[in-house]
Amino acid sequence: MDSNYYNRRPRKRVTRKMARRRQLTALAVILILLIVGIALICNACSKNDDDKGDTKPSVTTTTTTTITTTTTTTTTVPVVTADPNDPNTITGLTLDKYSVEVQVGEKDMPWVTMTPASSTEKGEIWVSSDPTIATVDHIGNITGVSPGSCFVTVTSENNPAIYAEVKVTVYGETGGIAQTSETPTNADTTEAPSASSAELTYINGILIANKTYALPADYAPGLDKTTESQFNALSAAAAAEGLNIWLASGYRDYDYQKRIYNNYSSIYGSDTADTFSARPGHSEHQTGLAIDVNSIDDSFAGTPEAEWLAVHAHEYGFIIRYPKGKEHITGYKYEPWHIRYLGVDTATKVYNSGLTLEEYLGITSSYQ
Ligand code: DAL
Ligand code: ZN
Repeated sequence: MDSNYYNRRPRKRVTRKMARRRQLTALAVILILLIVGIALICNACSKNDDDKGDTKPSVTTTTTTTITTTTTTTTTVPVVTADPNDPNTITGLTLDKYSVEVQVGEKDMPWVTMTPASSTEKGEIWVSSDPTIATVDHIGNITGVSPGSCFVTVTSENNPAIYAEVKVTVYGETGGIAQTSETPTNADTTEAPSASSAELTYINGILIANKTYALPADYAPGLDKTTESQFNALSAAAAAEGLNIWLASGYRDYDYQKRIYNNYSSIYGSDTADTFSARPGHSEHQTGLAIDVNSIDDSFAGTPEAEWLAVHAHEYGFIIRYPKGKEHITGYKYEPWHIRYLGVDTATKVYNSGLTLEEYLGITSSYQ
């Protein structure tokens, strides 16, 4: 007997039916494998597509972000460029005039000087607070539209922190004093009884406005013509000596003064504001006989213009109204830029006396 006989597996008998079943099973397996394979490939493709889909929005997002960023950058350009280390950054802005008076239809244009002079970024943005009273174009042409008062602001395009304000008064064709929508009301009367109930006070023929003596709220004479022409003569005489003295603030009505004083008060408190800003009704500017020159701040002190003004103002009828060291008498800190017109005779007498106007007339200046 063959030794392998018992090791040899007996052959199974495969019927035709069984063979077909096996073939079908194999086919099914192949089919399943095929389907699974195709599914895997599709899934891979689909994932690839999804990735591309993500990429597209991502690209879009990136683009959008870029655009947004660009937009934001554009909006914040002034902030970004107002870099103090950038030699182009605008750090100062002055005007040749801070108040403009025009008739309806007339034009005027304050002249802007920006510093540093070497900056190439001297764009100006002009805005009128009330275009129904005065309009302003992009280079600062102010045109009177209807009688009243408003403000025109010029701001440095490069550095929005740098700006200046121009008080605009528009007169009607009849030349009447402009009435504004902010003409003093009863509410103003209640707030400032000393001013509204006051009469004009003349002492030795001199109109007085100080802390003791108020002007009526509706006293609105505009800038006095003689004061204006004498100032022009003074300015011309200074110019002949190479000096530049310009009118920075002249006549201010009750409302304007109120706005200025309230603004300072809200920033510094009324006690401090009272040392350098008159309460409404108490400002000499409302008399139309006072003028502030040049920068209207402490930087003016000690300049050649300030020195010249202190010595020559009386020759044109003006006095330095709030001298150094006389704060306790005038009620105000030293203001080398504030001049008051008295006429040449009186101004010369006051100048030669070395006294303040209060001392000269023997009056006080203090709020009741
Ligand atoms: N600066 C002066 C005192 C005024 O406000 O009239
Ligand atoms: Zn002044």
